[in-house]
Amino acid sequence: MEYDVKNKVKKYYGGIAKKVNSGMGNNCCLTSSCCSGLSRSSLIYGRENLNELPKEAVEASLGCANPLLFAGLKNGETVLDLGSGGGIDVLMSSRYVGPTGKVYGLDMTDEMLELANKNKEKMGATNVEFLKGLIEDIPLQNEIVDIIMSNCVINLCESKEKALSEAYRVLKKGGRLAIADIVVLKHVPESIRHSVEMWVGCIAGALSVKKYEEILKKVGFKDIKITPVNIYTRDVIEDIAKQKNSGDAYSKIDAALIDGAFAGAHVKAYKF
Ligand SMILES: C[S@@+](CC[C@H](N)C(=O)[O-])C[C@H]1O[C@@H](n2cnc3c(N)ncnc32)[C@H](O)[C@@H]1O
Repeated sequence: MEYDVKNKVKKYYGGIAKKVNSGMGNNCCLTSSCCSGLSRSSLIYGRENLNELPKEAVEASLGCANPLLFAGLKNGETVLDLGSGGGIDVLMSSRYVGPTGKVYGLDMTDEMLELANKNKEKMGATNVEFLKGLIEDIPLQNEIVDIIMSNCVINLCESKEKALSEAYRVLKKGGRLAIADIVVLKHVPESIRHSVEMWVGCIAGALSVKKYEEILKKVGFKDIKITPVNIYTRDVIEDIAKQKNSGDAYSKIDAALIDGAFAGAHVKAYKF
């Protein structure tokens, strides 16, 4: 079962990476999570912050918020980005930690790693290393990372507890977690959730804020703060559905049920 889900995820994101690798870009909707595009990245990161990045890193951006906004990266720090995709957050972080710092990106999808390594070369980043592996089994030793980042990936993991306990293991004492992820803000009937998943993506495995906090606490994190920032209103979801030629299907559901039910959130926590 877990193998099937991982293979589906690899196939989906591998396809996006191949498209970007082949120079076809990835024209997608403006606002959806787990859905890439230059204009959407500008909304999330601010156009001025994207200027010095390779075009392909921006085109492959699939996050739901900007973890660098609250990561507070400093010169010399070691960062690990879980599910680093085409490398946008890794490459941006590499500028903040400087030549004495180090940024690892971890991903399981070969095509994404290939794209990320090309982007690293284009940018000439010498303090970056992309690793192949699973975030549920991080290929790094204990307590060597100052900060764990991630953008729209934990929701894709079947065992979120395993992934977050691995994050806790590799963090140094005093280290911090700065994750952008999708959260569920109210109950949505399963059938409707399924439709919204087809339009928006990345919500099928999303947790409620309460459940997310419980898991973080259970694996050892302290001072946990989860703040929904990009709320999926009915208008946002309607726009996305229309862009995906699903306007008719959208008009058949009760929009009040999905209005504000999902959001891109900032997840912050510490290991003491
Ligand atoms: C939604 S994309 C986000 C990529 C990147 N964080 C960004 O903001 O553009 C999810 C990425 O996570 C990777 N991924 C998903 N589940 C994973 C897992 N269990 N272990 C390692 N990588 C995973 C996928 O291969 C994909 O590149």
